[in-house]
Amino acid sequence: MAERHLREEASQDQADKILIKQFSTKSEAETEDLGFRLGKMLKTGDVVALNGELGAGKTHFTSGVAKSIGISSHITSPTYTIVNEYTEGEVLLMHFDTYRLTCGDDLYDIGFDDYLARKGIIIIEWAENVDDALPENTIKVNIKRHDSEGENLRTIEIEFPEGDERNDSFGI
Ligand SMILES: Nc1ncnc2c1ncn2[C@@H]1O[C@H](COP(=O)(O)OP(=O)(O)O)[C@@H](O)[C@H]1O
Ligand SMILES: [Mg+2]
Repeated sequence: MAERHLREEASQDQADKILIKQFSTKSEAETEDLGFRLGKMLKTGDVVALNGELGAGKTHFTSGVAKSIGISSHITSPTYTIVNEYTEGEVLLMHFDTYRLTCGDDLYDIGFDDYLARKGIIIIEWAENVDDALPENTIKVNIKRHDSEGENLRTIEIEFPEGDERNDSFGI
């Protein structure tokens, strides 16, 4: 059971009272499993921002989210098309990869307002590129590699917006 291998810590940032949950995973399956667990808590209108370098595990995390809402398609990064839509799950999933975008305006140029207005869940790889365009209620996920400690080790921080009650229940 992958969950056994997850180390979970909650660190309270006293300065701005934001609770960041930190996990570590040792395989792509564990990263998918964490995405699945987050996905189970998502609701229509949520935006998830994934930050992390190439090969960090953003797409595998997204696969877990997709599975949790009943999407069985193979998930790949929409690096050239920018967005893939999956309609076969319980909820519409809009999967962005903004690697090729340089700022929030680029995202609005491709109609991000319309995507936000649709009833679905939005998940964005390379979200740091379009940080200024993301809504306040965005859930932030930061994935980091630690190659000196093992090529499969990742730390994954999950930060819910302030006041979001899922802060209390996720990861317990
Ligand atoms: N703990 C881990 N979590 C996620 N991926 C891992 C992990 N350890 C090794 N990997 C490998 O790292 C790569 C991550 O790929 P991917 O999810 O496409 O990353 P990204 O979308 O961030 O570029 C895959 O080749 C995967 O097998
Ligand atoms: Mg990717």
